[in-house]
Amino acid sequence: MMNYFIISGNHSTAESIKKLLYYNRKFAKIFHNLEQLKSFVTEDDYGVLFITSSTTYDLYDLCGDISLQWPNLKVILISDVEDIDYKKAMYVGATDIVSLEFEEEEWKQALVKAESIIEIKMEDLEKKSDQKPARMITVASTKGGIGKTTISVNLAVALANQELNVVIVDLDLQFGDVPLLLDLQPKQTIYEWLKESYENGDGKVIPYVTYDPHTKVSVLAAPSSPEFAELITGEHVSNVLSQLKKEFDVIIVDTPPSFVETSLVAIENSEDILLITSLDLPALKNGKLAIDTFDLLELNDKIKIVLNRDTEMEGMNKNTVENILGRKLEVSIPSDYKTVISSINLGVPFVIRSPKTQVAKSMQKLVKQLDSKPDSNQRKTKKRFSLLRRR
Ligand SMILES: Nc1ncnc2c1ncn2[C@@H]1O[C@H](COP(=O)(O)OP(=O)(O)OP(=O)(O)O)[C@@H](O)[C@H]1O
Ligand SMILES: [Mg+2]
Repeated sequence: MMNYFIISGNHSTAESIKKLLYYNRKFAKIFHNLEQLKSFVTEDDYGVLFITSSTTYDLYDLCGDISLQWPNLKVILISDVEDIDYKKAMYVGATDIVSLEFEEEEWKQALVKAESIIEIKMEDLEKKSDQKPARMITVASTKGGIGKTTISVNLAVALANQELNVVIVDLDLQFGDVPLLLDLQPKQTIYEWLKESYENGDGKVIPYVTYDPHTKVSVLAAPSSPEFAELITGEHVSNVLSQLKKEFDVIIVDTPPSFVETSLVAIENSEDILLITSLDLPALKNGKLAIDTFDLLELNDKIKIVLNRDTEMEGMNKNTVENILGRKLEVSIPSDYKTVISSINLGVPFVIRSPKTQVAKSMQKLVKQLDSKPDSNQRKTKKRFSLLRRR
């Protein structure tokens, strides 16, 4: 995943660049000097770095040092008009140099140029290494209590059963209950990562991931206390997901009932979006609204509709659902209160505890469906992708 960094001696300039990036749904991290960058960014990180002129360092010298040490960062210099020297900028390896009073168009062009150079580099690297980045599957809905967490956990366990390295990221930051369904009591959560590692350490998230030996699934848990949830921003989630993409085969993201910024970051970076719905009109009406929104964001070919708690219901069946949503159902999961509740109460996912039940079988069908359809990113680059890539 692409990173965005800013080095600036001037707080307000840094903030305004960060804001511009934010309006384009890109999350940047600000550093005030080279030392701070050094403690956070490794040679393997790809991204665009903005450096603004400052009295505390020489813009061109700093760019030269960084280009040598971090070949995967493309630098855009931002300088006072009178100090702009294109030749010098080129010489120290900058991708572009723009003036401090830049026009938005000028700035955007520089950004697109830098991003495309990095994308080519990233593709080259992917070709060279066997380790493909994880496939990310976000489980979302427009209504609470519809089965997102149940489906996230059972899907993760079914995938881990196929020798895939799976992590669940619990983005229901206030009321996350993924660990409960696996009978885990994690001491480390995304909150400890933020406080200890991101703000005061090397930023690595892996030590904060809990491994469950029974299901072979890993979990990045939500904060233990709901009031910590608001401290986690889209920028943090973006950072966490890009690290996990390098370490796992599959990332399953469970989300809260409403579309908050943190969920949107996951959705936009996902290969698949599972939209969970049920056989009731309000759920379907909101589901249709969500699909229309995804259409606008050009995410529509990533959406897969999952009907949960399917039962015989007067005036409602699969066809009604498909008609209202204007999409085919990917899979329908039957209602099975006894199996689902007892599996939750025991902390053992039903795909393990009751593999012969129809609910478990429908989860296996979902796995098959996902595997038969290469994710949309991979399709674009015409590379074959299988969920069944072995560890
Ligand atoms: N297929 C099913 N059959 C019967 N009960 C189910 C089924 N799926 C989920 N449930 C039950 O529905 C309830 C809500 O499920 P779950 O917690 O997974 O939903 P959620 O969408 O994650 O909710 P929230 O939005 O609150 O996070 C749970 O009690 C669960 O046991
Ligand atoms: Mg939930």
